[in-house]
Amino acid sequence: MGNLTGSTVLVTGSTDGVGRLVARRLGEAGARVLVHGRDADRGAQVVADVERAGGAATFLRADLASLAEVRELAAAVQHATNRLDILINNAGIGTAGGVRQESADGFELRFAVNYLAGFLLTSLLLPLLQASAPARIVNVSSAGQQAIDFADVMLTRGYSGARAYCQSKLAQVMFTFDLAERLAGTRVTATCLHPATYMDTTMVRRAGVTPVSTVEQGGEAILTLAISSALEGRTGLYLNGSSEARAHFQAYDADARQRLWAFSLKLTGLSNDGSAGAG
Ligand SMILES: NC(=O)c1ccc[n+]([C@@H]2O[C@H](COP(=O)([O-])OP(=O)(O)OC[C@H]3O[C@@H](n4cnc5c(N)ncnc54)[C@H](OP(=O)(O)O)[C@@H]3O)[C@@H](O)[C@H]2O)c1
Repeated sequence: MGNLTGSTVLVTGSTDGVGRLVARRLGEAGARVLVHGRDADRGAQVVADVERAGGAATFLRADLASLAEVRELAAAVQHATNRLDILINNAGIGTAGGVRQESADGFELRFAVNYLAGFLLTSLLLPLLQASAPARIVNVSSAGQQAIDFADVMLTRGYSGARAYCQSKLAQVMFTFDLAERLAGTRVTATCLHPATYMDTTMVRRAGVTPVSTVEQGGEAILTLAISSALEGRTGLYLNGSSEARAHFQAYDADARQRLWAFSLKLTGLSNDGSAGAG
């Protein structure tokens, strides 16, 4: 891995799973890592891991199931650093559980945590990323994708944990494609990926699935998008592991993407240009 001394990286959901591995690797390579999660004790352990590996890290706590806490996280990042070279939106909830849940704001929980929180966090951190350009945004999505039903985005009918997860993961891809277009010429790139299939992590074990990939495999794929010099300047990509791939067909429907973007602005209270707005 190249030398990342002088770079600052935020990895959401880095208190567990593949995010924790990615945070440690980035720290080993010399980056300052902003470790994010909900649990302060596990956050402190990841910070200690990164420091033992010779890196520098700071823990930032926020529950992404609350848009107010997402806003506080963005403010905490701006307070902690005057540059942000890489933002990895990795935090997520898996497919387990058949009972529909809502976020603090009353939105379907997986849509809120896996997608909408990243939409808001990224929008709020864009000025910092642009000021630090070249910079990269990596959205950790999944090959598990399902079309968004715009008549019932909050899944009040026909709910399943898998449907909620797959809808949120496609929303991340659609967001990435739009963001890449909007950021053309800024030297801030936006890419997304399916890191690996059924890695041995908490979300997979919780779903009762037997893992088939290692956390290292998914971690390598995320790190490639985040720092590989071969991908310098590449934007709007969707990768399956390390290979460029086709996402769900709805991701290529510009009208659907526009609807999702407008809906997301409304839910987050951001203004049309993505700036903080009234909310
Ligand atoms: N595992 C796979 O095979 C696989 C396959 C495809 C895609 N992915 C994607 O890879 C990413 C990481 O997954 P993983 O397998 O590493 O999962 P994981 O081990 O369950 O870790 C998820 C991370 O997200 C955090 N998180 C969950 N809900 C949160 C919330 N409301 N607020 C703040 N942080 C929250 C968790 O914090 P806590 O520890 O506090 O819960 C944890 O740090 C996810 O986006 C997932 O969809 C995973």
